[in-house]
Amino acid sequence: MTVQEPSSTSTHVIRKKITGHVGFSNLPNQVRRKSVKEGFRLTVMVVGESGLGKSTLINTLFNSTVCAPREPLHPAAERPKTVAVENIEADIEENGVRLRLNVVDTPGFGDFVDNGESCNPILETIEQRFDAYLSQEHRVRRAKIVDTRVHACIYFIQPTGHSLKQIDIEFMRRLHNKVNLIPVIAKADTMTDEEIFDFKERILSDLAFNGICIFQAAIYEDEDEESVAEAEEVARAIPFAVVGSDRAARTPDGRVVRGRTYPWGVVEVDNPAHCDFGKLRQMLVRTNLEDLREHTNQVLYENWRTEKLLAMGIAQDLTVFEEISPAERLREERIIHQAKLAKMEAAMKDVFREKVELQEEKLKQSEVELYARHKEMKDALSKQWTQLMEKKKQLESGSPDARKKTFRS
Ligand code: GTP
Repeated sequence: MTVQEPSSTSTHVIRKKITGHVGFSNLPNQVRRKSVKEGFRLTVMVVGESGLGKSTLINTLFNSTVCAPREPLHPAAERPKTVAVENIEADIEENGVRLRLNVVDTPGFGDFVDNGESCNPILETIEQRFDAYLSQEHRVRRAKIVDTRVHACIYFIQPTGHSLKQIDIEFMRRLHNKVNLIPVIAKADTMTDEEIFDFKERILSDLAFNGICIFQAAIYEDEDEESVAEAEEVARAIPFAVVGSDRAARTPDGRVVRGRTYPWGVVEVDNPAHCDFGKLRQMLVRTNLEDLREHTNQVLYENWRTEKLLAMGIAQDLTVFEEISPAERLREERIIHQAKLAKMEAAMKDVFREKVELQEEKLKQSEVELYARHKEMKDALSKQWTQLMEKKKQLESGSPDARKKTFRS
């Protein structure tokens, strides 16, 4: 039996109550089966000053040694001049579900006297990955697009207890519309609960004051009460105060946990009463992984793509829901191709100009040398000429004895 509700708009929405079994309620299972087969791909970037526990936290999050600890630089070794960008790939499997994890580490961030330039290599990496995705979208065969875009950036804030530093604000301000920012208070075991509470308030007000948007964990009201309450608790805990440890510790009551041992007891990484590590993991991999990927694709990438194409002179009148016509796509491809050619041509012209300038410089140099040699020879000749004239005069005016003397000399 079906009941059809008339729609007031020109597009007719047909709502039907179906009594018999059709079978599309099985769709979520189909999606799940397909996703499980293909596995998931997640790219997480970690940014923060050296020694704030980035590698440890990633290893704790994925319960395996994804990032090996970095050897400290020898005091005599030359210091890098810019932030490096390192890519670490790991395949993790849990209950038959595969996760291809990509960690983008950024050693050197905040290590320089002038940290103004620290953001540039990171921003470039994010945009290069957008670019790579855009190129794949414009390929003739698009069946296997590999998504290497950064889905989340965990930004480590030093546990100072004061407010955000200039470098924190600068970084987040420049990146918040390119990547899902997840700020965390590093090494939260070095602060008391009250200090963490106050610090979180100050960070949130600094973020709001500077117009910085961070990733908000979505709350799905249609889920069961417990899940909604859990999601609300996670959202309230941002910025997460985290503790990392990839070592086992024994608690006074004899339990073996992941934690950090102190003379007064053990800080348990997975204990929600001790830190927000569990909430970060919950958001990142358990409940919001798909939201992170979706927001990257539909908002951050889409905005970047629109801006990029508009800058290239392609008017984007279509809404995201409209299908782009093949002719329009071809036009976009042609413009992108022409822009690439123009870029290559400009680069080649630059190289050519540099070579011509070098050659001109060499020619100028030889001209100067030639002129100097010419002058030297001319001077020598005129000196010789003067001497000869002297002798001639002596010969013409002198006695025979003097002439003989002149000849001899
Ligand atoms: P770089 O690779 O130099 O950028 O350092 P990093 O940020 O990756 O830090 P790493 O994970 O190597 O940790 C640096 C030191 O801090 C190590 O001695 C860790 O054991 C320690 N550490 C890591 N996490 C925590 C934490 O949550 N609390 C405390 N107290 N120490 C931590």
